[in-house]
This record gives sequence, C-alpha cells and structure tokens, in this order.
Amino acid sequence: MSYFDFTGKVALVTGASRGIGKEISSALCKHNSNLALVDIDELGLKKTAEELRDKYPNVKIIYYQLDISNESKVQETISLIEREFGRIDILVNNAGIVRDNLIVRLTQKDWQDVLNVNLSGTFYMLKYTAKLMLKMRSGKIINIASVIGLTGNIGQANYGVSKAGVINLTKTAAKELASRGITVNAIAPGFIDTDMTKNLPEEVKREMLERTYLKRAGTPQDIANAVLFLASSLSDYITGQVIVVDGGLSL
Ligand code: NAI
Repeated sequence: MSYFDFTGKVALVTGASRGIGKEISSALCKHNSNLALVDIDELGLKKTAEELRDKYPNVKIIYYQLDISNESKVQETISLIEREFGRIDILVNNAGIVRDNLIVRLTQKDWQDVLNVNLSGTFYMLKYTAKLMLKMRSGKIINIASVIGLTGNIGQANYGVSKAGVINLTKTAAKELASRGITVNAIAPGFIDTDMTKNLPEEVKREMLERTYLKRAGTPQDIANAVLFLASSLSDYITGQVIVVDGGLSL
C-alpha cells in the first residue's frame, strides 16, 4: 500500500489554475484524490481542470471561479462543494498575490489588497471548510505561507505581514481543531520559479539564488511534495507547524 493514496478523498485547492497550486492539484489527483479547484482566473482554471481531467480520468474534478477575499462567495462555494462531494478531506490554501513596494511608497490599496487575499481569504476558506471537517471529525488543512512571513523582506511589508498572519492563524486553528482530529500546518516556500517570481529584476533573482544554499530555485514540485506529506497519514501527529521548503534560503 502506498502512503500517498488518496482514493475516495476530496481535496480543495485555491489558486489552482497555475504555478504552485496547479502542481499541488496535479500531484494530489495523480495519487487518486478527487479535486475541487478554485481560482479567481476563470479561463486559466477551466484549462487546468480540463487538462487534469484528460490526464486523470479515474478521479472526479470540479471547479468554481472564486475570489477568496469575498466571504459570502467563499461560503456559497464551499456549500456547493459539500453538495457535490459531501466531504472535504484536504484543504490547501495556496492562492496569494504580491504588490511589492518600499514602506514609504506602499499605497493603502496595495497594503489592503494583499491582506484581503492572502490573510482574510485564507481565513474565510479555513473557517467554512473547518465547519464541514468538524462534522466529519477529520481533516488536513495546509496553508501556503512564505519564508518572508518568518524573516520579513525589503519591499514586501504587506506580503510579509500577510504571511506572518497565515502562520499565526495556522497555530491557533491547530489548537482549536485538534480535538476533532483536524491537523493544520503551513508550508513556507523560499524562492520558487513561477509566474509570481518571473518578473523580478535579474539582480534580485541572482541575489536570492546566491543566498540559497542548495544553489537552485525551488520548483512547484518541491512544494507539492511537502503538501503530499502533510495531506497523508504520515503526518498524523504533526499539527501547528511550519515546514520551510526553501533550499536553505532562510538559514
Ligand atoms: P502565482 O501568481 O503563479 O499563482 C497564484 C494563483 O492564485 C493564480 O492562479 C491566481 O489567479 C490565484 N489567485 C490570486 N488571487 C486570487 C483570489 N483573490 N482568489 C482566488 N485565487 C486567486 O503564484 P505562485 O508562485 O504559484 O504562488 C502560490 C502561493 O505560494 C502563494 O500563496 C504565494 O504567496 C506562495 N509563495 C510563492 C513563492 C514563490 O517564490 N513563487 C514563495 C513563497 C510563497
């Protein structure tokens, strides 16, 4: 028997249409999990869902366009997923945005937008999924934070604060939900090669790589591997933790 066999389970992944979220979705259905995918980008989401349906016809994949920062829409979408599958076993809170600027230039809008999506959106998803998991008396919640939430970073006050908030939310949720068999953990990726990082100035990318002891950028697969572990029974005695997946960047 494989430890990574999610037959009969349902995983809900946010920000699933590209990058890390797409890779996480692909890894979970490769290991037989059914999927409920959400993303604000409707076209990208449809394309990803259709691609995964073609590749993994043995699992059921549904998708909904959703802005996770809209609480009533989050509640509505999770009700639809409950109606469709009757359960959510794994929640991966992956959707996130950046609006980088130095503090003295950071606008109120860029501050608020990042907190609304990265922190409030994660909170809404966790809140309504947890209600269902509490009834099931089981569940695995995995929040994608960032090493920047641990260390801070020049030009990323909004992003760093949002991810530090996600880490603290992870710990409180772990305490509140533990007695019902639900674990809540976070992954803190370092510098990962995706659309989010591809437009960074070359010198910033070079500096990140220099500071990364393993001397390569991370891949979405590196993060998906950690998600598989946290979603599986191998991690049953782990809760409230942050797994740093950064090639040594934050050492
Ligand atoms: P990405 O920008 O390639 O993908 C993010 C996805 O989230 C997109 O599909 C986007 O449409 C979706 N999204 C954005 N706002 C949304 C909203 N309001 N509601 C629903 N979906 C929304 O980013 P990437 O690199 O794949 O990042 C995924 C997660 O990993 C993010 O939380 C990010 O902060 C985190 N992360 C990424 C790192 C990197 O180096 N790429 C490093 C550390 C953390």
